[in-house]
Amino acid sequence: MAQDIEKDNPETADLMLGVNEQTPREIVAELDKYIIGQEQAKRSVAIALRNRWRSRQLKGAMRDEVIPKNILMIGSTGVGKTEIARRLAKLVKAPFVKVEATKFTEVGYVGRDVDSIVRDLAEMAVRMVRNERMEAVKDKAARLAEERILDVFVPEPRKTQNPLGKLFGGSDDEEKSEDDQPKLQAGREWVRKRLAKGELENETIEIDVEESSKPMVGMFAGSSLEGMGDNLQDMIGNLMPKNHKKRKVTVAEARTIFAQEEADKLIDMDAVATEALKIAERSGIVFLDEIDKVAVRNGSSGGADVSREGVQRDILPIVEGSTVMTKYGPLKTDHVLFIAAGAFHTAKPSDLIPELQGRFPIRVELKSLHKEEFERILTEPENALIKQYQVLLATEGVDLEFQPEALSRIAELAETVNETAEDIGARRLHTLLEKLLEEISFSAPDLEDKHVVIDAAYVDEKLKDIAVDRDLSQFIL
Ligand SMILES: Nc1ncnc2c1ncn2[C@@H]1O[C@H](COP(=O)(O)OP(=O)(O)OP(=O)(O)O)[C@@H](O)[C@H]1O
Ligand SMILES: [Mg+2]
Repeated sequence: MAQDIEKDNPETADLMLGVNEQTPREIVAELDKYIIGQEQAKRSVAIALRNRWRSRQLKGAMRDEVIPKNILMIGSTGVGKTEIARRLAKLVKAPFVKVEATKFTEVGYVGRDVDSIVRDLAEMAVRMVRNERMEAVKDKAARLAEERILDVFVPEPRKTQNPLGKLFGGSDDEEKSEDDQPKLQAGREWVRKRLAKGELENETIEIDVEESSKPMVGMFAGSSLEGMGDNLQDMIGNLMPKNHKKRKVTVAEARTIFAQEEADKLIDMDAVATEALKIAERSGIVFLDEIDKVAVRNGSSGGADVSREGVQRDILPIVEGSTVMTKYGPLKTDHVLFIAAGAFHTAKPSDLIPELQGRFPIRVELKSLHKEEFERILTEPENALIKQYQVLLATEGVDLEFQPEALSRIAELAETVNETAEDIGARRLHTLLEKLLEEISFSAPDLEDKHVVIDAAYVDEKLKDIAVDRDLSQFIL
C-alpha cells in the first residue's frame, strides 16, 4: 500500500491547498460548536472531507479513479441541514458553493443555466488562490506601498532629473537641482523614518487611484448569455482605458490602496487561474440545497413539474461529471463533491430522476428535534439564541438571566407546539422566544430594574395559553 502514497511529490504538495487536514473527529468537533445532535450527518460530511485528503495522497492513475461519493441529507424542515452547509462553508479550505436547486425553476429563470454553479466554483477557487498568493507577497507589497507614499511626500531625486546628468557632470540648467539633491535626499530619509515609525498615519495626502470601469453591468444579467456576459464585461473592462482619479486619503488608507495595487502587479493571474481550476476540480464542493423542491411525485404532470424535472436533467451532467467552460478555462466536474439536502416532505428521494438518485449513494437522515435538543440549542451553540438576546439587550444595559427551569419550559413548549401545530424544528424556538421576550424588548430602555430574570412562571404566563391552544398557536407561534 505504501507505494501508493506519495508524500513529497511536488504535484501532490501543490494540490494539498484546498484540502482540509483535520481528522473526521476534529471536523465533527468543529461542527458541534454550532449544530446540536445530527451526529450521522456530521460524520458523513467529515468522512467525505477526509476522503478528499486521502485521495490526494494517492498516486496518479489511482487518484483519478477514486471519485467522491456524493451525499444526500434528508431531514424535515428546521433540523439543521442548511446550518450544516453554512458551517461547512466556513470550515473547509476548499472552494465551496451553496445553491438552492429551486433557483433554477424560478419564473423568468426557466432554463437558467446551471453551469453557473460551476462558474461560481471556479470564481471561489480563484479568489482562494489569489488570497493565498496575496498573503505570500504581502510584505513585499507593503514595502513597495510605503515607497510610493514616500514618493508622494518627497519625490525621489533620481526621478526628477536625467539619470545621465550625474555621470557626465550635467548641463547648466540642471545645476540648481543638483544643489538640492542632498537636501532632498535628507528630507526623504527623514520622512522615511517617520513613515516607518507610523507617525504619519493620519496625515492626508493626495494620490492617484485607478478606477476600473465596469460598463454595462446588468445588461447581460439573467440572460442565457450570463457566462458570456461575464467574459464580455471583463474583456470590455480591460479594453477601456483605466480611469485615474485623484483622491485625498490618509497615509493609512493609502497604504491599503497601494499595497493592493502592488500585490496585483506581483501576482501572475494566469498562474492563479490555472492553479485555481486544478483545485476546484480536485477539491471543489457544491452544496445543493432544497433538492426535494425539484423532485416530481410520480404520476403528476404539469407546467411546474416539467420545469422541475428539467432542472434535474440540467444538473445531472454536472453531477455525473462533465466539462464546463468558465472564464478561467474549462473545469471538469468529475471529482467535485456534491452534497444535496432536502426536507422531502411530499416528494421522496425516489421521486428524483433515477440517474440523479444513483449519483447520491450516501444517504443520511437528520432526526427531528425534541425537548433535550431544543434545550441545548437554546444555549450551547456559539451563536445560541439566548446568547443573541442577551447581548442585544445588554446594549440597553439590561442583564437578562434565564433560569434553567425556564429554558426547560421553553424547550418543552417548543416540542408541544411542533407536535400539535406543524413541526418546524428549531425554528420554533425563534417564534417562541420572540413572543416570550416581546415585552422586555419593547420596554428595555425604560426599565428601572435592569436585572431581568426569566423563570418558569414567566414562561408559563407568556406562552402557555397560546401553546396549548392549537388554533392560537397556529397563528401566533
Ligand atoms: N441541530 C441544530 N442545532 C443547532 N441549531 C439548529 C439545529 N437545527 C436547526 N437549527 C437552527 O434552526 C434554524 C433553521 O435551521 P436550518 O436552516 O438548518 O433548517 P433546514 O434543515 O435547512 O430546514 P429547511 O428544510 O426548511 O431548509 C437555524 O437558525 C439553525 O441555526
Ligand atoms: Mg434549509
